[in-house]
Amino acid sequence: MTLAGKQVILGITGSIAAYKAVLLLRELTARAAEVTVVMTAGAEHFVGPLTFRTLSGRPVLSNLFDPQSDDAVEHVALAERTHVFIVAPATANLLAKAAHGIADDFLTTLLLAARCPVLMAPAMDGGMWDHAAVQANVTTLRERGVTVLEPDTGALASGLHGRGRLPEIETIVEEVERLLAPVRDLAGERMLVTSGPTREPIDPVRYLSNRSSGKMGHAVATAALRRGAEVVLISGPTALKPPAGAVYVPVQTAEEMREAALQHLGTATVVIKAAAVADYRVERPSATKIKSGGKRDGWSLDLVANPDILKELAQKKGGAFLVGFAAETNDVRAHAADKLRAKGIDLLVANDVSQHGIGFEADDNQVILLDRWGGVLDLPRMTKIQVAHAILDRVLALRAAPKPRRTPSR
Ligand code: CTP
Repeated sequence: MTLAGKQVILGITGSIAAYKAVLLLRELTARAAEVTVVMTAGAEHFVGPLTFRTLSGRPVLSNLFDPQSDDAVEHVALAERTHVFIVAPATANLLAKAAHGIADDFLTTLLLAARCPVLMAPAMDGGMWDHAAVQANVTTLRERGVTVLEPDTGALASGLHGRGRLPEIETIVEEVERLLAPVRDLAGERMLVTSGPTREPIDPVRYLSNRSSGKMGHAVATAALRRGAEVVLISGPTALKPPAGAVYVPVQTAEEMREAALQHLGTATVVIKAAAVADYRVERPSATKIKSGGKRDGWSLDLVANPDILKELAQKKGGAFLVGFAAETNDVRAHAADKLRAKGIDLLVANDVSQHGIGFEADDNQVILLDRWGGVLDLPRMTKIQVAHAILDRVLALRAAPKPRRTPSR
């Protein structure tokens, strides 16, 4: 698509991948974007500003504290008229500063002044990307609405092989286009999304639950809202902020989730059940704290089965399109095919929660989409928000042409 009339800031930080920003700049200007390049001091060690100045046809900004420069006072105005702010490559240092609101150079100061969508394309050594501090910063930025792309896997400057390469230029440009022309293809849809775990009380201080963080369900709600849907988000307890614009219904137990889901089912056009519902609850929770002193010889809890909410929704859904999730640890595809049939739903999102870095608590996911017409879509590892968009794309495609291909077979 043309980016004519679009003001873009391209921030470049001190990574060996800085040379690839030249190619990104060329792609952006080829689409007629008006690009202002901002370099950190580190970036200038790798590529000279003259290259970027020549290709962008504009001065390159870098020194906030240069008394000869008018740039410093100009930064708020520049940030305000920008349509998209890209940082590529984004080093671990830049991600940390951005996550903590540090503004000690021109680029980080501009980031604080910007009100437009921000896209970061990280590049660093694989071990650094995996570090808990970097991952925490990435999570903070994503929760704040910044799009942080996943780095690519391949040969790294360190000589090692791993994750940490700057994402492909094509991927970055695609994401820029998506941010600049948000699709409103879910306008008019009413989505019912469930998220998080449920908590089944044992007594007033103890409960049974599971490791669901709610990140996948919340990502689905966020993606649907971005695409113009009305969203009711029914969620068990999580550490996440509900996405702005959603009708948020907090629940604790499976029974509460069931009641809330049935209440909102009538008006929903699409139901996406990402919640990890506890399959069992304690038959008779104690009204008072059970004292440990009396349990020295062990303690048995009598559990009873919780209602299968998804199955019940499938029986009562009317015209709504119903999507379920399957958390598996082995034989993912076979278990998922069984679950699709047993629950009587339209689409099943299967993921292997035993894999490191995807599934419970992770920011990424890798899923297989199985539909009731026999279609199977094996998706690569992506961020949960990208998975959410892929699920929504699939729902729209299947609803537009749900031609029976074959009955799913074992
Ligand atoms: N689900 C539900 N009610 C339950 C259990 C699960 O609505 N009591 C829904 C979940 O929200 C999810 C799907 O069913 O969309 C599959 O959940 P999962 O935990 O993978 O499967 P289970 O049905 O619990 O089956 P199993 O534990 O045997 O794998």
